Amino acid sequence: MPSPHLLTLHNLPADEIRAILREAIAFRALAASGSLAPRLAGRTVGTLFFENSTRTRTSFSIAALRLGAEVIDLPVAGSSHAKGETLTDTARTVEALGVDALVVRASQSGAVEMIARRVGCAVLNAGDGRHEHPTQGLLDALTLADAMGRAETLDLSGLHVAIVGDVVSSRVARSNVFGLTALGATVTLVGPPALAPPSLGALAQRVRVEHDFDAVLPHADTVMMLRVQFERHGDAMRMASPAFASLREFRAACGLSSERAQRMKPGAVVMHPGPVNRGLELDGEVADSDRSLILKQVANGVPVRMASLVRCLSGAAAAAT
Ligand code: CP
Repeated sequence: MPSPHLLTLHNLPADEIRAILREAIAFRALAASGSLAPRLAGRTVGTLFFENSTRTRTSFSIAALRLGAEVIDLPVAGSSHAKGETLTDTARTVEALGVDALVVRASQSGAVEMIARRVGCAVLNAGDGRHEHPTQGLLDALTLADAMGRAETLDLSGLHVAIVGDVVSSRVARSNVFGLTALGATVTLVGPPALAPPSLGALAQRVRVEHDFDAVLPHADTVMMLRVQFERHGDAMRMASPAFASLREFRAACGLSSERAQRMKPGAVVMHPGPVNRGLELDGEVADSDRSLILKQVANGVPVRMASLVRCLSGAAAAAT
C-alpha cells in the first residue's frame, strides 16, 4: 500500500523514487499534448505555508488545479495562527473544513511529520526547517536526469554532484543527498567547516564533505549552489557569525562567480533551488547562462508535484479502505 504522506526522501527506495519520476515524465508529456485527464477531480488540496514561498506553493497549486482538484490556499499571515493557534491545531482545523491533502511548509524541522501524525488526510512536506524538501529533491533529480540524457533510465550512476554553500541550513541539500545517491550519483558537500561540517558525510553512502570549492569544481558534472539562508542563522549571523565573518569572505570561498564558472568541466551544469542571492552565492551572469538549469528546475516542479499528489492521494484512498 503506498504511503499517504510524502515527508522525506530518506530511505525512500530507488524504485519508488523512479516510479514518481516516471509518472512526472508521463504528466509532463500529457500536459504538453493538452491531454491531461482530471485525475484529482472531486479532491481538495489545502496549502498551509508557515514560511514564504514562490515556486513550491505556486507549482503545487498549478499541479492540483490542472489535475482537476480544488485548491484552498490558507493565507497564514491573516490566519488564527497569528493569534497563537498551534501548527497542529491550524492543520486539523483546515482538515475539518474538508481537504483530502495538506501541503505544508514550516520553519521547524519535524513539524510536518508532527502534523501528519495528527491528521487523517494525506500530508506533503513542502519544506520543514533545515530537515527536508522532498519534492525539491525529486524535481532536481528529474532535471539532472533530463540534462544528462538519463531520463529514460533515471540512473544517475557515475555522475558527480557538488552541493555548495550554506549546506548546514539546507533542507534542499538533505533531500538531494538522499534522492541523488539513491539513484546512483556521488555527492560532494562543499563549504567552509561552519557551513559544511564533516559530520554531514554520514548522511548517506557516496557522500563526502570538502571545504575547498576550487579543488572540487573542475571534477563536478553538476554544481548545485544553495541560497545563503540568513533567516536560519539568526540576526547575529547577518554580519557577525563565524560562518559569515564577512559576506565577501563567503563569496570568495564558495560563490560561483563568472570567473569560477569558467573552470567548470565541459558540459557541466549549474543548478540552484531558488530564490537566488545574485552576486553572493551565484553571479547573475552564471544564473542566466546556457549552463544554468534553474528555470528547468522550476518548470519540472509542476509535473513532479502532480505525481506526488496523485501518489499520496492514492495512498490515502488505499489507507481509508
Ligand atoms: N525552491 C523553493 O523552495 O523555492 P520557494 O521558497 O520559492 O518555494
